[in-house]
Amino acid sequence: MSVNIAIDGPAGAGKSTIAKKIAGKLGYIYVDTGAMYRAMALFLLREKIMPSETEKINEKCLEADISIGYENGEQIVYLNGENVNGLIRTEEVGNMASASSPNPNVRKKLVELQQKLAADKDVVMDGRDIGTCVLPGAQVKVYLTADSRVRAKRRCQELEERGVACSLDEIEKDIIERDHQDMTREISPLKQAEDAVLIDSSYMTIEEAADAVIALLNR
Ligand code: DC
Repeated sequence: MSVNIAIDGPAGAGKSTIAKKIAGKLGYIYVDTGAMYRAMALFLLREKIMPSETEKINEKCLEADISIGYENGEQIVYLNGENVNGLIRTEEVGNMASASSPNPNVRKKLVELQQKLAADKDVVMDGRDIGTCVLPGAQVKVYLTADSRVRAKRRCQELEERGVACSLDEIEKDIIERDHQDMTREISPLKQAEDAVLIDSSYMTIEEAADAVIALLNR
């Protein structure tokens, strides 16, 4: 039977960095589900659909073929066969992903893909609804969070490293808005699964947080 580790939490809590670290240490596959929602968002933006056009999103999303592969251990997301890894990390795509991800057709399509990946492989999967909906039987479930100001600082640093100027206050405002949207939506809202362990990464190093999760597996 495959081993599944589910990590959920708000944007910027360090999910992907910590999940990658865990996957590397254990030799598991890392599955970034946010990247799949972002690829779908890119598709919708290219179709000139606005975040508020829920009916159009519901129809058009059926035309997007999203799949993932791995190159040198890195997850590659394909949108209709095109590697879109380099195009999905913008604020515009992130905002569209947040707006379009509550859509039932979007979720159905991507959750099926995620469950298929985890069925026969040891995975560390991160997202918003992994412990609650996608992998309810995961052996380890973690709800990873961090203070919104700390998360905004991390995001700003990331952007600055890529040469993008940013305002800390603006980014924090965006993060709080995104949290609200993700936590209050009707379908699969972001919430801690009853059997998930809460880890606050605000003042932890990546190594410490990764080891805290691995300790849960060895429990
Ligand atoms: O983790 P991220 O910022 O790459 O995710 C982008 C958006 O996708 C986020 O606002 C919520 C959505 N998402 C989701 O609804 N379910 C998931 N399992 C992962 C992401």
